[in-house]
Amino acid sequence: MSKKLRIHLYSLHGLIRGGNPEIGRDSDNGGQIVYVMELAKALSRSPQVEHVHLFTRLVEDEAVGEDYAVPVEPVNDKLDIRRIPCGGSEYLLKEALWPHLDEFVSNAIQHIKAHEIFPDWIHSHYADAGYVAAELSAFLSVPFVHSAHSLGKRKLKRLLQAGMTRTDALEKFQFVSRFEAEELTLANAEFIVTSTEREIGLFADYENVRLSEFHALPPGIDFERFHPYYDDLLPSADKPEEDKQAMFAVQERMERFLAEPHKPLILAICRPNKTKNITGLIEAYGRDPQLKAMANLAVFAGIRADIDRMNPGEREVLTEILLLMDKFNLYGKLAIPKKHDIGMEVPEIYRLTARLKGVFVNVSLAEQFGLTLLEATACGLPVVATQNGGPTEIVPKCENGILVDPFDQQAIQQALKNLLVDQEKWQTQSHAGAANVRRHFSWRTHVENYLELVTANLNASGGAGVKQLARAPKIQRRLKTCHSLLACDIDGTLLHDTNPKQPGLEQLREVIEGRGDSFVFALATGRSFKLVEDAVREHRLPEPDLVISSVGSEIYYGLQPDLIDKAWQRHIAYKWDRDAIEHLALKISGLELQEESAQRRFKISFYNHNEDLSEDAVYQALGDHALNVRVIISHGSLVDILPKRASKGRAIRYLCQHWDLPMNRTVVCGDSGNDLDMFQTSALGIVVGNATPELTQPLQGARDIYFANAESAEGILEGIRHFAFPSNAA
Ligand code: GLC
Ligand code: MG
Repeated sequence: MSKKLRIHLYSLHGLIRGGNPEIGRDSDNGGQIVYVMELAKALSRSPQVEHVHLFTRLVEDEAVGEDYAVPVEPVNDKLDIRRIPCGGSEYLLKEALWPHLDEFVSNAIQHIKAHEIFPDWIHSHYADAGYVAAELSAFLSVPFVHSAHSLGKRKLKRLLQAGMTRTDALEKFQFVSRFEAEELTLANAEFIVTSTEREIGLFADYENVRLSEFHALPPGIDFERFHPYYDDLLPSADKPEEDKQAMFAVQERMERFLAEPHKPLILAICRPNKTKNITGLIEAYGRDPQLKAMANLAVFAGIRADIDRMNPGEREVLTEILLLMDKFNLYGKLAIPKKHDIGMEVPEIYRLTARLKGVFVNVSLAEQFGLTLLEATACGLPVVATQNGGPTEIVPKCENGILVDPFDQQAIQQALKNLLVDQEKWQTQSHAGAANVRRHFSWRTHVENYLELVTANLNASGGAGVKQLARAPKIQRRLKTCHSLLACDIDGTLLHDTNPKQPGLEQLREVIEGRGDSFVFALATGRSFKLVEDAVREHRLPEPDLVISSVGSEIYYGLQPDLIDKAWQRHIAYKWDRDAIEHLALKISGLELQEESAQRRFKISFYNHNEDLSEDAVYQALGDHALNVRVIISHGSLVDILPKRASKGRAIRYLCQHWDLPMNRTVVCGDSGNDLDMFQTSALGIVVGNATPELTQPLQGARDIYFANAESAEGILEGIRHFAFPSNAA
């Protein structure tokens, strides 16, 4: 494939910006944020890549600052961050995002079409983005790849082991949604990227593991920032002013805690999570007099500006640290600095520790990968690392440290002393690490290997994605490229109610079927989806690109029953209490429920036997619910009650907005009451000659509406000619 790639990355939760990530701010701002940003930058440097767009959630919230409210943030000339709103504007933790993902998908589609940045390849990060990517990939017919970053099933297991009840865990961490998203992702992603071989085994808990392919590609780190400590000591070293400031800030901050700051330092940097086993480390240190005499301990456990505002898990960890400090009387020996600014200071913290001939330690109970080990190693620090997880594939490659059982206090103590005592050994390990980490863990290598997999897949599938190829595209090219829409009601409009010869239908069918890419065709009807299918089959109606059925309460992509627009469903569900409304409406005299098949989740339909019944009377009977519903009477005899936000007109407006189909290039056609609000948009309208007064009367004198003389399909043809659609519109 010689075409350069436009790549979309999706990483929804946490806070992403071009510079200065707020790592450690909360449990959603950890390694993933760094990983994604670094990957995005590395990809943008590849000559095979045209552009990288990193999609995340737009957050407009004073609590987090203005950077995250910028819709498009350019990072370099081939990379930008695109922020898409969903679930309101407040900063939300990842557990709270699940109900808003369909909205994200729908808004992302709108953004993509409006900015004409359709991807060749999509890469999702974490289960929430996996869900979004699976949807987008299906809608846009673009293959996607996924990085899990962490796995729900494993997390649940660990929580249960730690004594949490299943009910609490499911509730607090929304595992049901997460597992669903994870399974969906496994089934649909072209392949899964992991950081280690070992990580691949962790997917065994998932049913769809058999449908997926895995590739372990270790990440890299930014060697400009994480350079060895001795670089700064060379006389030629020319450190930027900012870095020098950071260096001294770190030193000063540390010295405030320590009685003997010149001593070697044992350093831990991690988020304040229980699994990070910070307390295990402090205990190991606190209980070993030799260790306490040899070295100081510094624990950077996130930004703890305000313990009260942290989530309970984090608060607990920090409280424990303070208690242990007291218990083992570690004053003057244990530094727990309050704030670290990842952009500037973290590399300086590693380098300060290296200058002091110290050790970096990560004794997590389980570590997915262990990015901080790479960073520390690149700065020239030997490491003591947990033998549970990714470090087993890092430390042996870097040859700069010791793996330990995190539950074995003595082993931790011994390993630390081992590295601290022997200066020569320290030196050998420090040098080996700094060299080896560059060989095995560079983003450049990562991206080369990655793009090889991507191009192989695209070549083998003609760009569709090998897995995708097996599926029909959900949405045709037309919807992605057209800027014009024709929406027709069925009964009385496309189909004549009383004339079985269907005058004009044959000719209209030719016009619509021959539309090529000139306009999108939608059916907008009171019928349920099933009845739409029947009508299309029976009367050979042209195959629609979009189906707005059940009076606008449902939207489908093509004649595909599983392709219902979920974002629309969520949108209209607002304040809809179906049972209560039905109950009240049934008390109105003359109303009788239509057959079961006409009743939908967001549509209650009645036959009306009371000639004098007005929409107002129905509203009145519904009491407080009147505010949240829409009552539509068609042909006098059919009464529909829908959520306030649902109607054919609103569905059309929503689709026009999302697919960038300008209203003034949209033509709507109808004949009765449930069509009325389609005409009350700024679209052009064709009222067929056989229309009922409930439609024609309110539209008298309206602009941009053509009242055809001919009936049904013939009337549509007449109107189309009148508006010179689509050429005039397109
Ligand atoms: C269709 C539907 C019916 C609805 C009517 C008016 O005929 O099947 O349920 O009441 O349209 O919208
Ligand atoms: Mg009709």
